[in-house]
Amino acid sequence: MHRITTSRHPVEIGPLIDSGIHAFLAQPAISKARKFILVDENSLQHCIPALMSAVEGLRGAELIEVESGEPNKNIVICTHIWEALSDMQADRNALFVNLGGGVITDMGGFIASTFKRGIRFINIPTTLLSQVDASVGGKVGVDLNGLKNQVGVFADPQVVYIDPAFLSTLSPKELRSGFAEVVKHALIADANYWKEIRKIDPAHYDNWQEVIVRSVEIKKRIVEEDPHEIGLRKILNFGHTIGHAVESHSLEGGKNPLTHGESIAIGMIAEAWLSHKKRKLSQQSLEEIVATITAVFPAHSFDDLDHHRLVELMRNDKKNQDNSINFTLLDDIGKAHYDQTCNAEEIRDALKYYLSVVKSK
Ligand SMILES: NC(=O)c1ccc[n+]([C@@H]2O[C@H](COP(=O)([O-])OP(=O)(O)OC[C@H]3O[C@@H](n4cnc5c(N)ncnc54)[C@H](O)[C@@H]3O)[C@@H](O)[C@H]2O)c1
Ligand SMILES: [Zn+2]
Repeated sequence: MHRITTSRHPVEIGPLIDSGIHAFLAQPAISKARKFILVDENSLQHCIPALMSAVEGLRGAELIEVESGEPNKNIVICTHIWEALSDMQADRNALFVNLGGGVITDMGGFIASTFKRGIRFINIPTTLLSQVDASVGGKVGVDLNGLKNQVGVFADPQVVYIDPAFLSTLSPKELRSGFAEVVKHALIADANYWKEIRKIDPAHYDNWQEVIVRSVEIKKRIVEEDPHEIGLRKILNFGHTIGHAVESHSLEGGKNPLTHGESIAIGMIAEAWLSHKKRKLSQQSLEEIVATITAVFPAHSFDDLDHHRLVELMRNDKKNQDNSINFTLLDDIGKAHYDQTCNAEEIRDALKYYLSVVKSK
């Protein structure tokens, strides 16, 4: 069991059965509390049986199920769940348990931290993406009119319990999606980690515990220094200015949208190119980043109309200030620089660069 203590919330990484969850639930104030577990149909099917068999203290909990997928991470679904909690007479002592991917931990954390001005919650993330990134750090919220994470708060879970065994039922596509955040952590903060993760093929890898520990340590260090994203925490947005626009745009398209990680992978290639043009990222490092990402992620294409819409979506991004489009760019692998601005033409060129490298593969 690997325990990471942070000034915000502890994180335990290892088998649930050996974790501190039993002691946590046995505390007098918690053992008496009503418990509610938020799931989607996939975490219900693949994770509830293991959770119930490992954690006796949750067997009497009420299950609340939502439909899976990013389009369901919205305020209408929150309203249904607040109403359900209210109907079930959840009080301020209740404990809310988020069991699922980043959609569940983002939305469940928001529901819990606002219901009756906030009830306690814990995260049990079940996707690679939520285990290495989303469940940690206290950002919770939902999308609004297709724009990512427009409504939310900073709210910390009591504890995050990460059991890598849950990853055994994830598809290669979802493993890849989580791997994008791992790539991001290495690129913004740790050149040695980069050398190690470059060798990983996420679809055929089974030593995730170590990767989760390294990624959570990186995120913890950054979040502790700047919990409310005044400065340094912005480096976690590398790949996300373009990536979030790509993700929102692909959700507008309806069927078969890109995953969060697939979108961020595109964003990281385009923003690495901007880092080369506008900062000091070398040609060799740019090529290394492109080679690593394109070896794992399938190519995606957009046309001129898409470029226009993507820039429009970026203008709405909450990371912007004073109308300019805000980026985190790299000076080198492992060295990120936040509060960089780029104009629409530079962004279009970055998207064209992405298209040119995936076409040449
Ligand atoms: N709050 C943060 O700091 C932060 C950071 C990064 C990403 N995010 C958010 O996280 C979300 C993406 O997270 P995600 O990729 O986990 O999405 P997700 O929750 O949609 O999960 C992906 C898919 O995997 C399924 N699933 C979950 N656990 C499973 C399991 N063990 N076996 C099989 N299938 C399983 C889900 O039902 C879903 O279909 C986005 O909304 C993104 O904005 C938040
Ligand atoms: Zn992300």
